Amino acid sequence: MKVEHGALPRNQSRIEYLIDYPQHLETVAQWEYTQWQLLHPGSVMHGWVNALRRKLGRSQIPLTLVMMDGDEPIGAISLIVNGNPRRVDLTPWLASLYVEPSWRGKGLGQALMTRGAREAKALGYEMVYLETTETQQLFYAKFGWKLIDRILEQGQESLIMAKQLRRTDPTPD
Ligand SMILES: CC(C)(COP(=O)(O)OP(=O)(O)OC[C@H]1O[C@@H](n2cnc3c(N)ncnc32)[C@H](O)[C@@H]1OP(=O)(O)O)[C@@H](O)C(=O)NCCC(=O)NCCS
Repeated sequence: MKVEHGALPRNQSRIEYLIDYPQHLETVAQWEYTQWQLLHPGSVMHGWVNALRRKLGRSQIPLTLVMMDGDEPIGAISLIVNGNPRRVDLTPWLASLYVEPSWRGKGLGQALMTRGAREAKALGYEMVYLETTETQQLFYAKFGWKLIDRILEQGQESLIMAKQLRRTDPTPD
């Protein structure tokens, strides 16, 4: 079932704070480790678990949201203070957006991104930022994110994108 405009179908997937589902923290950390460990050479799984434990706010940054299907975690996103030491002037950031491969293409990534941005708006921010790659920037561009910077680090280019949070955007339920 395709989800429109970041809304979730009733009685199916839902977005929760990860702090309320500590039993799934390792699963989310494992997703992050598998997906992004190459960006942090030498990092080990328990380091990712510990880092995620520090992102367990509820309506408070840093926070992590988890997409649930019944009792099963199927995606996640974090809202953090800042994601790149070269642009500490920019805050807050969406980070670590991930949807389980078998659940992709159903609008869940969009829904997590939209909810993460709403959390930032509810906390009083007018802008939200993120770091991505050339490949993924089209995903964000689709939803109104603008490219504002390119940073070359260890031969890899990071794209910094920004989104304005409009007064008319809804806040989290
Ligand atoms: C990126 C990711 C979160 C997308 O999740 P998803 O649930 O498949 O995304 P959605 O179904 O919400 O996609 C919404 C729209 O974006 C499009 N889209 C998805 N990934 C895209 C990409 N890489 N480039 C361009 N468009 C993309 C979809 O086709 C869909 O378009 P449509 O509404 O016209 O059909 C998922 O692929 C993922 O977890 N990837 C691995 C981790 C990752 O790269 N995270 C982003 C780090 S910056």
